[in-house]
Amino acid sequence: MPANVVVGTQWGDEGKGKVVDFLARDADIVVRSQGGNNAGHTVAIGDEVFKLYHLPCGILHPEKTSIIGSGMAVNPLRLFEEIQELVARGFDCKNLIISYHTSLIMPYHMLLDELEENRRAAKDSRGIIGTTKRGIGPTFSDKMARTGPKVGDLRNPARFRERVRYACEEKNALIEHLYNAPPVDPDAISDQYLEVGDKLRKYIGDATRAVIDGLEDGKRVLFEGAQGTLLDIDYGLSYPFLTSSHPVSGGACLGTGLAPNRIDRIYGVVKAYISRVGEGIFPTELHDDLCVQIRNRGNEYGTATGRPRRVGWLDLVLLKYAADINGLTDIVLTKVDILDELPEINVCVAYKMNGKKVFKLPSDPDALENIEPVYETFPGWLLNTDELATGDMLPENLMEFLSFISKFVNVPITLLGVGTRRRQMVELG
Ligand code: GDP
Ligand code: IMO
Ligand code: MG
Repeated sequence: MPANVVVGTQWGDEGKGKVVDFLARDADIVVRSQGGNNAGHTVAIGDEVFKLYHLPCGILHPEKTSIIGSGMAVNPLRLFEEIQELVARGFDCKNLIISYHTSLIMPYHMLLDELEENRRAAKDSRGIIGTTKRGIGPTFSDKMARTGPKVGDLRNPARFRERVRYACEEKNALIEHLYNAPPVDPDAISDQYLEVGDKLRKYIGDATRAVIDGLEDGKRVLFEGAQGTLLDIDYGLSYPFLTSSHPVSGGACLGTGLAPNRIDRIYGVVKAYISRVGEGIFPTELHDDLCVQIRNRGNEYGTATGRPRRVGWLDLVLLKYAADINGLTDIVLTKVDILDELPEINVCVAYKMNGKKVFKLPSDPDALENIEPVYETFPGWLLNTDELATGDMLPENLMEFLSFISKFVNVPITLLGVGTRRRQMVELG
């Protein structure tokens, strides 16, 4: 593996954390390149469960280098807590590098995220995005506007204070006059951030150089995507019910300075059904008892926010789209064990649009308003898969299910998740 990328192919929470933890065994460097602590990645090691928000899951392999790339946004207060918690649990986090260029999530970004959601709700409840309220949209907006403070600024108190004061002139105008809320105090924010900045200083460094030189020296680099393809700001489904970064495989390049031709394999993490937190289109969404059954069995409650996730059948039209957009070389099918007890399993193979069947995702967002999923029904395998150790032992109905998915999207399924724990991963082929 010179450079391998792990991406979510759906609306996030596909089980990327567990997959990265598994693949990290063969990596020297693990990198997060986009998103922020809107992500919540879970890794279960034995009876211990770790939830990571900013830190790459490689941090649980202390000998590896962990990198927070330039394309990420971090809340330094929460990041420091995350590091402290891991240190308390025996992970030293010594090999962490945070890029100088990583964007800082400021208290006013989180406030504006919340105030804007409230404003949308007041105008039209259907307009709410259902963000994680971590300040993601406002932080990345400021980066593009070139006004947002960066991690590197924490090392230069005078410049940091000036940037925060300048930003707060604009933010307070909005907070007070558009949202009718009390203003924020730039100096108090700077005091708090500079204090934590001092504690994080030892980690701040040249993340881009670490990746480029690492690859040059033959190190193996693994990129941990956050969120999922269908939440991508340009390629997700559908605007504005998206996140403000690029969870697609190209995001690994943009968020770290990785050259695209260095990428070897692109693993698409696919949950055997789909979940979505937050608002927006969801063609195969379930609303009946089955929804509750899958949600409970799959523990589909947000890692970052605790919200119940919406759940639905696997949608192969969307998966084919994700395979194309990301250039998937491998599929990792997760949470197969959650379907163990179902006598019948549906997968969406086409959409009905104006009486016609379509097999490819239409790019016209208005066309998506009135689509109906067309399902193929598979008999369930009705066996516990959580103790399966090798691909040779798979029940026949499961093999048929896997073969159908793989043929439909023309990408091999090389790993299967059959439980939350590290060892509950089956290598195929
Ligand atoms: P991520 O955001 O993609 O890393 O996924 P989350 O950690 O938010 O949510 C995935 C949830 O499913 C976590 O609770 C994982 O422990 C769990 N999980 C991951 N893979 C499997 C699997 O194959 N089977 C089961 N039962 N749970 C899994
Ligand atoms: P991981 O990495 C699931 C969703 C939010 C909301 C939309 C915008 O754990 O898979 P934001 O706070 O980003 O502005 O919210 O995106 N969202 C996620 N859903 N998993 C995630 O991350 C998500 N990160 C953001 O629920 O619908
Ligand atoms: Mg998650």
